Amino acid sequence: AQHAERQSILDTLRLSREQLLEVKERLSEQMVRGLSKQTHEQASIKMLPTYVRSIPDGTEHGDFLALDLGGSTFRVLLVRIRSGKKHTVDMHHKIYSIPQETMQGTGEELFNHIVDCIGDFLEYMGIKGASLPLGFTFSFPCHQSKLDQGILLKWTKGFKASGCEGQDVVTLIKEEFDLNFVAVVNDTVGTMMTCSYEDPRCEVGLIVGTGTNACYMEEMQNIELVEGNSGRMCVNVEWGAFGDNGELDDFCTQFDHTVDDCSNNPGKQRYEKMISGMYLGEIVRNVLMDLTAKGLLFRGKVSERLKTRGIFETKFLSQIESDRLAMRQIRSILQHLGLTTSTCDDSVLVKEVCSVVARRAAQLCGAGLAAVVDKIRQNRNLNQLTITVGVDGTLYKTHPHFSSIMQETLQDLAPQCQVTFHKSEDGSGKGAALITAVAWRIKCEGQ
Ligand code: BG6
Ligand code: GLC
Repeated sequence: AQHAERQSILDTLRLSREQLLEVKERLSEQMVRGLSKQTHEQASIKMLPTYVRSIPDGTEHGDFLALDLGGSTFRVLLVRIRSGKKHTVDMHHKIYSIPQETMQGTGEELFNHIVDCIGDFLEYMGIKGASLPLGFTFSFPCHQSKLDQGILLKWTKGFKASGCEGQDVVTLIKEEFDLNFVAVVNDTVGTMMTCSYEDPRCEVGLIVGTGTNACYMEEMQNIELVEGNSGRMCVNVEWGAFGDNGELDDFCTQFDHTVDDCSNNPGKQRYEKMISGMYLGEIVRNVLMDLTAKGLLFRGKVSERLKTRGIFETKFLSQIESDRLAMRQIRSILQHLGLTTSTCDDSVLVKEVCSVVARRAAQLCGAGLAAVVDKIRQNRNLNQLTITVGVDGTLYKTHPHFSSIMQETLQDLAPQCQVTFHKSEDGSGKGAALITAVAWRIKCEGQ
């Protein structure tokens, strides 16, 4: 009886093929709505134009600065691009921490901190005073009407510094410092560029990390918010916000509602909250609390520790599902988390909860990607599309099963697309520098 009771709770987190197809369909609809002038305002997915039109042609060169803000680490980079027959990219970077109080304090504090880090980096590299062209990976939804602008629409993930929404991040930093801003890019876009430098088939960028999102090359004629009908432009889908108009309500569980209610941004980024690293651990913890409260786990004792938000980090999800782990090791992870009363049965159940939650995330992500690649295929009137997706993000890179489940789902839901995944090892800063280099070359040619 206990087994059946446990399974019925877990069943709420299992999605059928029909449900996943439905997710793909609804996401496709929202993408079309986001692109169209008439429906853009109401669409949950914003389909933001990025003003990135072309991939590097190998002639760009020079030294560039890059900033990479919004993932699990904040980095400042110096990127040296050499052109010629064998073009090379040389990178130096330094990681800086951003304290939680700064992420959630005032905008002034946050951007002062960023400026201090840039100053420190220039000194560290021995290039103080140099005014290098700069590309800024800023991983939040931004309105752009040109490449070197990014008006923050809303904070997502762990950030909520005051006074920034509606402001251009370029001016927020520039007020402090005389920097030579050339490009503001989303991390999906930077990642796509990083990968397309090596594989020109790479026309989609995907992030599955703290947050989740995708970008892809869309036909200009479909991007109604931008003048012009020829060629293509990269569109930042901002799919994390899918579901914000209720599109996912019939798939959400009580656990999703709780995680959403307790988040920084209730009612927002509903799809992201079912998929990405910042939230999966919280879903797991809420399931465990429910199982415990019903007497099905931890001898029915809900400890203070289990009630603590944020104890299950992405790292834990990836560790616990590792096939090499014996149950004994799972127990020691749980003990490490302060969940000491656990028996062997408990360990089995905890692992099953992690696996069900991660599987649903990977399947939902695969359904989203199916919508994206099928859109590209239809745009090009193809029966079969061969394409590469550039991917980054800690959850994707460290979880033992996420990528294979996601790919399985994708293949099942978009059988006419042959998709190769290219894991980005260089971060999005390299891509941001390449975008900057292209824009800089064009700017210099025009002078
Ligand atoms: C990094 C990219 O490698 O991955 C960032 O350089 C991106 O731009 C990040 O935001 C996403 O992963 P995570 O797990 O750090 O959020
Ligand atoms: C959030 C941001 C988005 C970013 C993603 C991955 O969804 O809104 O811009 O690409 O996280 O970091």
